[in-house]
Amino acid sequence: MTSTAIRPRERDALLQSLRSGVVPRIGQRHIQVGREPEVKALVTDIDRISDGGSAVRFVIGEFGAGKTFFLHLVRSVAMEKKLVTAHADLNPDRRLHSSGGQARGLYAELMRNLATRAKPDGGALSSVVERFVSTALAEAQQSGADPSHVIRARLAHLSEMTGGYDFAEVVGAYWRGHDSGDEQLKSAAVRWLRAEYATKTEARSALGVRTIIDDTTVHDHLKLMSRFVRLAGYDGLLVCLDEMVNLYKLASTQARNSNYEQILRILNDTLQGTAAHLGFVFGGTPEFLADTRRGLFSYPALQSRLAENTFATVGLVDYSGPVLRLAALTQEDLYVLLTKLRHVQAGGDTSRYLLADDALAAFMYHCANRIGEAYFRTPRTTIKAFCDLLAVLEQNPGVDWRQILPSVEPAPETNPDLEPLDEGSDGRPGDDDLASFRL
Ligand SMILES: Nc1ncnc2c1ncn2[C@@H]1O[C@H](COP(=O)(O)OP(=O)(O)OP(=O)(O)O)[C@@H](O)[C@H]1O
Ligand SMILES: [Mg+2]
Repeated sequence: MTSTAIRPRERDALLQSLRSGVVPRIGQRHIQVGREPEVKALVTDIDRISDGGSAVRFVIGEFGAGKTFFLHLVRSVAMEKKLVTAHADLNPDRRLHSSGGQARGLYAELMRNLATRAKPDGGALSSVVERFVSTALAEAQQSGADPSHVIRARLAHLSEMTGGYDFAEVVGAYWRGHDSGDEQLKSAAVRWLRAEYATKTEARSALGVRTIIDDTTVHDHLKLMSRFVRLAGYDGLLVCLDEMVNLYKLASTQARNSNYEQILRILNDTLQGTAAHLGFVFGGTPEFLADTRRGLFSYPALQSRLAENTFATVGLVDYSGPVLRLAALTQEDLYVLLTKLRHVQAGGDTSRYLLADDALAAFMYHCANRIGEAYFRTPRTTIKAFCDLLAVLEQNPGVDWRQILPSVEPAPETNPDLEPLDEGSDGRPGDDDLASFRL
């Protein structure tokens, strides 16, 4: 049993997230169970990204298996290792490719969620830009050079890349704003970098550039951003995209294929070693990956690149391929998880445990009776019920858990993705951007 102290802020954030059924953003390490080899594989990726390489992983797991939890865990490791992270869930308004603003929407969400070790909750874009400027200023001071020359020399690295010229212009505008105390210019530059300009006209009048980050340039801009964070002193960029099943749900074959084509571009960049300091982690269900009609495997070039190692059969594993399968948590994992939750609830003080081990076993038995074996495979509601139970015990000292346990009702979980997809318009071209998501 661990006796690590748990900071009150982490304790409260953890318990609050879990009780409301969402995956915690901070402090995951206090409750993590299993996943050692998977985490190790991703740490290798992160190290490769820091060294100037790239990585792509498809984290595949059934409904409730722990994909989102794992993605957040990987993100927190990446931030610890001086990477900048960006994460977003795909949904009808956020995809990798579109012509109605949804790809720009995804990029804007990624930029809103840009996070660093100092700003793990997101909103780090301005401070990354600020850091770029201040490191350049420090360099100028040391060498006695003109700061604007140093800035321009650094940005020259970006200008050679697709879309890099205007990107460099915008960062240059930020610097001018910084230098002359023009807050409006600074915020216009940050707005542009967040892909918040919807028209070129607006961007031109605010910043003098001719382009904006739009649907067609999302991937190019992620590559630019990965170089830029390096120039700002970070080790690279990790992009985490969750709920990829939303692409599988696109009704139009054409819309799915153009999104899958973007994934292929990302994958090829990595396999060919042309991306630097950049990694992608995609979270999705098995059907998103392997369904040969609508999933990634419906796109032949992806199927051949993502085919799993046929030697990795029962008992043999291979964590080196792009596809990382997350097995469901086991009953033992869940037991360990409950002990960790008890520990967190007690603020890391073993003398303040509200439940003894036999109560944990009784709780599991109770859940198995109420919701069947899903209680440990899709543990969201079990975890929620357990945290609720602890909260009641904490606020009602003297009450015996045996009295309340029978009234604990963990709700069975239903997988919304199992609802049948309407095949009506499948294959119909032209509805790329109109109502092509099923909800
Ligand atoms: N390795 C783990 N250690 C501790 N808790 C975990 C772990 N994996 C998942 N959980 C917990 O299990 C629950 C379900 O996990 P999560 O939401 O990540 O699943 P998911 O695969 O993303 O589900 P969905 O298919 O609905 O997106 C969450 O409460 C999460 O905190
Ligand atoms: Mg999830």
